[in-house]
Amino acid sequence: MKIISSPLELKNYLKNYNCSVGFVPTMGALHEGHISLIKKAKEQNDLVIVSIFLNPTQFLKDEDLDKYPKKDEADKKLCQLSGVDVLFFPHVDDIYAEDEVSVLAPKVRGYVLEGSSRPGHFNGVLTVVIKLLNIVNPTRAYFGKKDAQQLNLISLMVKQFFMSVEIVAVDTVREKDGLALSSRNAYLTPSQREEALKIASSLRNATVMVTRGVLDAKEIISGMREILSPLHIFYVEILNRDFNQLAHIEIGNTIILVEVKVGTTRLLDNIWL
Ligand code: PAF
Repeated sequence: MKIISSPLELKNYLKNYNCSVGFVPTMGALHEGHISLIKKAKEQNDLVIVSIFLNPTQFLKDEDLDKYPKKDEADKKLCQLSGVDVLFFPHVDDIYAEDEVSVLAPKVRGYVLEGSSRPGHFNGVLTVVIKLLNIVNPTRAYFGKKDAQQLNLISLMVKQFFMSVEIVAVDTVREKDGLALSSRNAYLTPSQREEALKIASSLRNATVMVTRGVLDAKEIISGMREILSPLHIFYVEILNRDFNQLAHIEIGNTIILVEVKVGTTRLLDNIWL
C-alpha cells in the first residue's frame, strides 16, 4: 500500500493509471463500517484509494476537534489488511489555505436536521469533499447511509456542480445488538452504550409498525419518541429519498431518521424503507 500525503504527488501518481478508481473518504478511527465501504469499492473498481483527514472545518467552534478519536497506526494497518492501494493522509496545510474559497451548503437542506443544531457543519463537509474529489478524481466515491443527510447533500453537490463522479451509498453496519457503528461510539461509557440501544430499538419499532400496516408518519414518530424519551432528542423525522417530509410512509422511498444525545455524544441513525 502506498501512503501519500501531498495532493500534488497523489495527482501525479494517479496519472500512471488508466483504470476505474474507487474512493473512500474518512476522518480515521476506522471500524467495520469503513471496511464495508472499502470492500464495496474493491468489488467495483480496479484501484482503491482511502483518505484519512480529520477535517477541522466541519467542526463548530464549541465542538472539541481534539477529542475526536485518533488511531493513525491502527488505521494504516486496517487499510493495508483490507487491500487498499493508496492511502491519502494529508496534513491540514496540504488541504487548506489561509484565505479560502469555500462551498456553502444549500440554505434549506443544509440547515435542517443535523444542520439545524450544527449550523455551518455541512459547509465544511462539502468543502472538504469537493477538494478530496478534485484531488483523487475517482470513478466512484463511497459514503455510508448512516450519515444520510451528508450523503444527500454530497449527491446534490455532485449533481448541481456537474461533477462526473458516481456517488455510491453503502448500508449501515451494526453491532449484534443493533447499535450502528460510528467512530463516536468510542466516547460512550458502558451505561451510555446501553442507553444508546434505544435508538436501534426505536427504529425497529417503526419497522414493526410499518409491517403491521401503520403508515401514518405522526403515529410512527410518536411511538419512536416514546422509546427515545429518556434521551435528549434532536429530531425524529420521516422523509422521502429527496429529503422532503412525508405524511405517510412510501415503501421504497422513505428514510426514518433519528439524532439524539447520549451523555455529551451525538448519535445518529436511520432506516431506509
Ligand atoms: O463522514 C465522514 O467521515 C466525513 O464527514 C467525510 C465525508 C470524510 C468528510 O470529512
